[in-house]
Formats: sequence, C-alpha cells, structure tokens
Amino acid sequence: MTFRKDFLWGGATAANQYEGAVHEGGAALCTGDVMTNGSHTVRRQVTWKKPDGETGSTPLCFGSPERHLPDGAVPVELDDPKYYYPSHIASDFYHHYKEDIALMAKEGFKCLRFSVKWSRVFPDPEGEPNEEGLRFYEKVVDECLKYGIEPLITLHHYETPLIFAQKCNGWNDRRLVDLFVKYASTLFDRFAGKVKYYLTFNEINLVEAAPYVTAGLIHADPQNIANAAYHQFLASAKTVIRAHESHPDIKVGMMLAFSPCYGLTSDPADQLLASERQNNTLAFSDVMMTGEYPTYKLLDYQRQGIVLPEEAGDQELLKKGVCDFLSFSCYGSATYTTHEDALIGEGNGANGSGQAANPYLKTNAWGWGTDPQCLRIALNIFNNRYHCPLFCVENGIGWNDQVEDGTVHDDYRIDYMRVNIQSMKDAVELDGVDLMGYLYWGCVDMVSNGEGEMAKRYGQIYVDADNHGQGSFKRSVKDSYYWYQKVIASNGEDL
Ligand code: BG6
Repeated sequence: MTFRKDFLWGGATAANQYEGAVHEGGAALCTGDVMTNGSHTVRRQVTWKKPDGETGSTPLCFGSPERHLPDGAVPVELDDPKYYYPSHIASDFYHHYKEDIALMAKEGFKCLRFSVKWSRVFPDPEGEPNEEGLRFYEKVVDECLKYGIEPLITLHHYETPLIFAQKCNGWNDRRLVDLFVKYASTLFDRFAGKVKYYLTFNEINLVEAAPYVTAGLIHADPQNIANAAYHQFLASAKTVIRAHESHPDIKVGMMLAFSPCYGLTSDPADQLLASERQNNTLAFSDVMMTGEYPTYKLLDYQRQGIVLPEEAGDQELLKKGVCDFLSFSCYGSATYTTHEDALIGEGNGANGSGQAANPYLKTNAWGWGTDPQCLRIALNIFNNRYHCPLFCVENGIGWNDQVEDGTVHDDYRIDYMRVNIQSMKDAVELDGVDLMGYLYWGCVDMVSNGEGEMAKRYGQIYVDADNHGQGSFKRSVKDSYYWYQKVIASNGEDL
C-alpha cells in the first residue's frame, strides 16, 4: 500500500500571517492585528488603551506567562511609530493571490489550505456579511479550482474578531458559539459545490498555552480558559451538524497541534510526565472525535475547582457534532523531564514547562528539532485511538534563508521534508493508517506566528519582504520548490 491516488499534496497558510490588507475591502480587525512584531528573544506585544486614554502593550503571546491586560485596558491598534503590526501587510496575498496560486499550481499542488478571516466576512459579527470580503475569498476559491487545486478552508486560525476581545473577553462568552455558526454557514452556502473541506479551529488545544492568541481572552484564568475551549467545542459541533444537514458533501475536520511526547530518561517519573502531557493534548481530540471529555480531563478540572459552563442539550450536541476527520500540525516532538538540571529555559525553543533538549535531534536557530519519526508516531497514536481519516495539514521548518545567486539553496528544508515525508510514508505503507494528505506549512514565506517576524521563513516560494514590511514583495522559487514538485509528481515515490 502506498499513498492513495487522490492524496492531497499541497501547502497551508493563514490569513493573519499571509493576507495583509487588514484595512481594505471593508474588513474589521482580528486579535492578531494588534500584535506587534518580535523575534526569537523579544516577545510580541498586544497594544491596548484604557478609558482614561493611557496606552501601552503587554506580551500576551506564545511562550509568555502573562495572562491579563491591565484593568480596564482593551486591545486596540495604536497610531504610534514605535509599534509595528506585521499582519497588516504580511505577504500581501490579498494583492498577489493569482500569482501565488499559479506558482503553487506549477509546483503540482492538489490542495491549498487557507483561513478565512471572520472579521473580513463579518466586520460586525452580529450584522450582515460584507460582500467585498466574501467576494475576495470567492476569487481565491475560484482561482484554486481553475487549476484543479482543492481549497481547504480553516474557519478560525487565531483570528477571533477583535471586537469580541474588547467587549466580552473573547471565547469566554457563549454568545460567540451561534455567531460562529452563522459565519460558517454563510461560507458553506456561498461556496456550495466549490469547497468540500473545512477545519473549524486551528490548534484548538493551544488555548492553555496562548489564550489570547487562540481565543481572544484578555483575562485568562484556568476557569475561563476551560470556558473558551468548551465554547469552541460547542461551536465546532454545531458547525459540523449544520454542514451535514445543509450540504452532505462537506467534510469538516478538527485541527490539533501535536508533538509526540517523550520522557528524557527511563526514570518512570519522566515517562509519566510525558504521558500526562500527551494525554492533555489528546483530551481535545477526544472531545471532537468522540463527543465526550475523557475522565482524566474532567477529574483534572474537578481538582482545580473548574466547572464547565454546560447547559441542557450540550452533551447531545457534542456527540452529534463529532468531526469527519482529524487534521493536525506536527513539526517535531517534545521531550519532558522531572530532572531540574536537564530543563531548558524559555527562549530555547521549548515552550512548555518540564521540557528538555533531546540529544538525538538537530535543531534550527529557533530551537525547533527535526525528528525523523514524529509523523509516524503521531499517525499511529491517532489511528489507534480514533480509527478515522487523518490529514497532516502542517509540517515544516523555519529558516533565516539567504538569497545567493538570485535564489535560496535550502538543502536544510529539503532534508527536513524528506525525513518527514518518509516517516509519514512508513505510517501508510507499514502501519496502514488512512491518510488524506500532506500540507507543508507556510508554502509561501509569511510572518511567523510565534515571533511575528519574516526572518523565520518556511516557504518553498520566497517573498522579498523584511521584518518591517519593506521590500518589493516579488516572489521567486527556492530549491525546495523543485524538489517538492518532483515528490508530488511521483506521488511520494521520489524522495
Ligand atoms: C502552527 C500555527 O502552530 O505553527 C501556524 O498553526 C504557525 O500559525 C506555525 O505559523 C509555525 O509557527 P511559527 O511561530 O514558526 O510561525
């Protein structure tokens, strides 16, 4: 057995990192649009304003322990040259979509994952849809279809409309559930017969690591983090139900951020810690793929005094609205230890407590390791637990690419992709997992999410722009483009 004939090879992107044009086409801002740029050592900030006019910024980003804006402060865009918001220009896909999709088609893409920005389609989430916003995404969909590329839409990729963060602490508020279903339904109806695959929430499990980024929480404690996750589960379930009722051909997937968890040593305490961390991630896919919280997660909530904001009928909705497939991001593995002397501090690429460096893995400049077995291990874990179709919708490596002789010779990216695709192939050929496709993350260079910088490039297609949005925005292809083209053409045989 090898990759299926209709295997969806392609790439993945997200509006807040790629699209730009945040003030064009009648769009309103999302939470990511008030986050400043950062770097490997400087955290991204959320800018804010208080009713008395005081302004400032707080690092509510990945890797930051901050969980609150100051009392009374709401996140806003500030007109102050000291703040640069990378999402506002990003890679300017808004004006380059034709060119980018043509390059992807030439590379052989069968599928393009992109996110729709809720606040572009509904600048007022309680109002009517913005025709210009819908029209933009329809043009992107049509452009994909023109080349036989399957569009895969992420409905929410770290893009909570800013107004919710300002008015009701984001996804802590249950009213977002039905507004989200209204938004998703608008897309289902508008793109009927054109878009078959949707994902509800990108990396839904990262709400505990970055509550503002994932769910628009400007005040996050364990209770409202649990509320936000609960409301997103409910919104996803209701969205799945709506899709199935009105458009039976649509398949809706969940999206999990996953890294196989290893214990650093054979000390049982390390193994237990790794298993607990992995289970905590899988609790999220349990809810979305089985319709129930696992007992260990409920007991953990109970010990913390957390009460789920459950209402009558919710349990039935979660059960009825399980997703059609499980999609996931996987960039590498995570290694845990209870041995204090082996812990690595923040800023070393590890963003979870208890993390240690894995001596068997090579890392990039941001500390992200290449694990040649992570995809096979991840796919087997999912397959054994859920027995459902699986889709790898993010895998890739960021690098400070340098242009030499007019191009980028990114052998390191080719090496990374080769071992990862081989690992995925082993899971299909040797273990028999049901895999729908593979989407390389950041196929066109875009702003990194964690650091908000352009220097951490993932693309096979280079974009001439720097960390401050300066450049010609001209596209050119790297060596990895030709390599991936050959992989796709051979359906994964020629690595
Ligand atoms: C995933 C996200 O976690 O990782 C993407 O879904 C993100 O949005 C990607 O860009 C890579 O992370 P980063 O921080 O290097 O951009």
